Amino acid sequence: MSKIFVDACLGKETPYTPVWMMRQAGRYLPEYMAVRAEAGNFLNLCHDPKKACEVTLQPVDIVGVDAAILFSDILVIPDEMGMDLSFVKGEGPKFSDPITCDADIERLIGGEEAASKLTYVYDTIKLIKEKLADDKALIGFTGAPWTLATYMIEGQGTKTYNICKKMMYSNPTLLHKILAKVTEVVKLYMEKQIQAGIDVVQIFDSWAAAIETEKYDEFSWKYMVEIAEYLKEKYPHIPIIMFPKGIPSFYDKVYGNFDVFGVDWATPMELAKEKLGDKYILQGNMEPCRLYSKEATTASVEHIQSVMNGKRHIFNLGHGILPDVPVENAKHFVSECQRISGK
Ligand code: CP3
Repeated sequence: MSKIFVDACLGKETPYTPVWMMRQAGRYLPEYMAVRAEAGNFLNLCHDPKKACEVTLQPVDIVGVDAAILFSDILVIPDEMGMDLSFVKGEGPKFSDPITCDADIERLIGGEEAASKLTYVYDTIKLIKEKLADDKALIGFTGAPWTLATYMIEGQGTKTYNICKKMMYSNPTLLHKILAKVTEVVKLYMEKQIQAGIDVVQIFDSWAAAIETEKYDEFSWKYMVEIAEYLKEKYPHIPIIMFPKGIPSFYDKVYGNFDVFGVDWATPMELAKEKLGDKYILQGNMEPCRLYSKEATTASVEHIQSVMNGKRHIFNLGHGILPDVPVENAKHFVSECQRISGK
C-alpha cells in the first residue's frame, strides 16, 4: 500500500497534503504522561521498546497525523558513545564529562561499535512497524552532528554556545574531529534504523542558528550532506528531510542530495518557496505557539496553503509542539490541514 507521506516526500502527487508535528509524541498527551510515569523516567522510556512503541503510536491514533516519528532522543547517540547522559528534572539533559581535548575524543566509542549499542532503538522500530497501519509512514531521526556536538562540548543546553564557539574559532581542528567522529556514528545509526524498517529519515539541526552564515557550511551543513549522501547512495528510495532551524540567510547556499527541506516558523514560507521550492519539497512551518488558539491555527494553515497550493509541500509546525498545548487544539491543526488540502 502506498504511504501518502512517503509519496509527498518524493514529489509524487497525493490526494491531500500530509501532516505531522515535530515532538508529536510527548508531554501534551496525558496518555504519554501515563506511560512515562510507568517507565519511571524519560531515559527508561527510550530504552524500553514496548513502551517507546506505544508512545510513538499515540499521536497517530489520537491526533490523526499521517506519519509516526520514532520515540527516542537525539542524545542517545553521545550516550552510547560513552558519555554519561542524564536528564535532571526541570533542567534538561546533562553530560557529566564534556569533551575538552583530543584525549576525550579518542576515549569516545566510535563507528560500528557505538551504532551497534543502540539495539533498543532498532527493536522499537521493528515493533512499531508490526503495529503501524500500512498507509502511515514511520520517520526515524538523528540530530545533526553540530547540534549533538553542542551538548557534548557544553555538557548541557546553552543560550550562548560560548564553549563550542571558543573551540570553533580558536581550535577548529578539535571541533572538526568531534564532528567527524559523530558523523561516522550517525551514518551507521541511520543505516541501521533503515534496515530495521523506518520509511523516512529526518536530520534535526535544532541549533543551526548559533553559527554565523559564513561558517554554517563548514561546521554543520557539509556533515549533514555527507550523512544524506551516504544514505541516498545505498537507499535511494528512502526520503531524507533536512531541518536546519533558523538559517534563512543560508538558503541561497543550500545544496545536497536529499528530498525535503524543513522550514522553521520564523522563516516566511514565501521566502523558502522562492529560494528552495523548485529543488526540494518543503515541510512546515506553522509557529507552534499558534496552537494555543484555534483561530490563529486556522489562519496560519490557510496562509501556508495559499503559498504552497498543495504542491510539493508537507504540513508541519516550524518547531516542536509545547507541553501545555491542549490536545484538542493539536487535533484541530491536523484536521484543518487535511480539510484545507482536500481530504
Ligand atoms: O518528535 C517526537 O515526537 C519524537 C521524539 C523526540 C524527542 N526528542 C523526545 C523528547 C525527538 C525527535 C527529539 C529530538 C530532540 N531532542 C532534539 C531535536 C528536536 C528539537 O526539538 O529541536 C533536541 C534538541 C533534543 C534534546 C532534548 N531532549 C532536550 C533539550 C530535552 C529537554 C527539553 C524539554 O523539552 O524538556 C529533551 C527531552 C525530551 N525529548 C522530551 C521528549 C518527549 C521531554 C522529556 C520528558 O518526557 O520529560
